[in-house]
Amino acid sequence: MPRLFPMAEPEVIISRDPDELARRAAAQWVALAATAIQSRGRFTVALSGGSTPKTLYSLLATPEFREKIDWNRVHLFWGDERCVPPDHPESNYRMVREALLRKIEFPPQNIHRMAGEKDPDTAAAEYEQELRNFFQTTAPAPAFDLVLLGLGEDGHTASLFPGSTTLKETTRWVATAYVERLHAHRLSLTLPVINAAAQVSFLVAGEGKSPIVKALLGKDSNPARYPAGQVRPVTGELTWFLTQDAAAEIAVSQNG
Ligand code: 6PG
Repeated sequence: MPRLFPMAEPEVIISRDPDELARRAAAQWVALAATAIQSRGRFTVALSGGSTPKTLYSLLATPEFREKIDWNRVHLFWGDERCVPPDHPESNYRMVREALLRKIEFPPQNIHRMAGEKDPDTAAAEYEQELRNFFQTTAPAPAFDLVLLGLGEDGHTASLFPGSTTLKETTRWVATAYVERLHAHRLSLTLPVINAAAQVSFLVAGEGKSPIVKALLGKDSNPARYPAGQVRPVTGELTWFLTQDAAAEIAVSQNG
């Protein structure tokens, strides 16, 4: 029976606006990268899609941040992908390429994108194999140094949607599902992989997210009802980067 609650209380960091949120997330990225590269020679990140992380990716490409990161030691993976080609406007890979990768010197062999253009089941199986080849671990799941996540108003995260069979996945590392609401297939890392990470960070902005933030982090909340609420790093850390308007309905002692 998986542990329902993480060892440590999640860290909640509230920022004035998306720019300040991105700055704080970028500072965390720089610190984690330095530690991981020093101790393991590499920094592995699973990137989030959606619109909120774009500000972070753009900021990491600025001189102020890009010069603090040894990009040759960074390996970029994706937490989820839309089943579209890499040049498609909805592609999470394309979003990262435009916001970050085309602005920095980055080794192409360190880019590990999900093949959204392929048959979803094939793409999921191939990506799992790529993770197995890369992490070379006998553990039930690979341990990313950092997993970035967003949050949908329905409580979905990565491409783990309420009621989806992918939520029940206990052995596979990558899953695919048809999302009725979007009339589309999605590829996603599964909960065992997300919860095996050393650090998981949610980036959540906008007043539209305040009801779901309350349902997840508010007093008397029952977070396990939502996919995002099932993100509980087994031994790792969990941070919620929230803008003030996203946190409007919760009262928390600020950590940031
Ligand atoms: C995706 C994401 C998804 C996203 C949320 C929040 O591919 O769409 O990974 O989980 O993070 O839908 O999206 P916004 O940041 O755009 O609100």
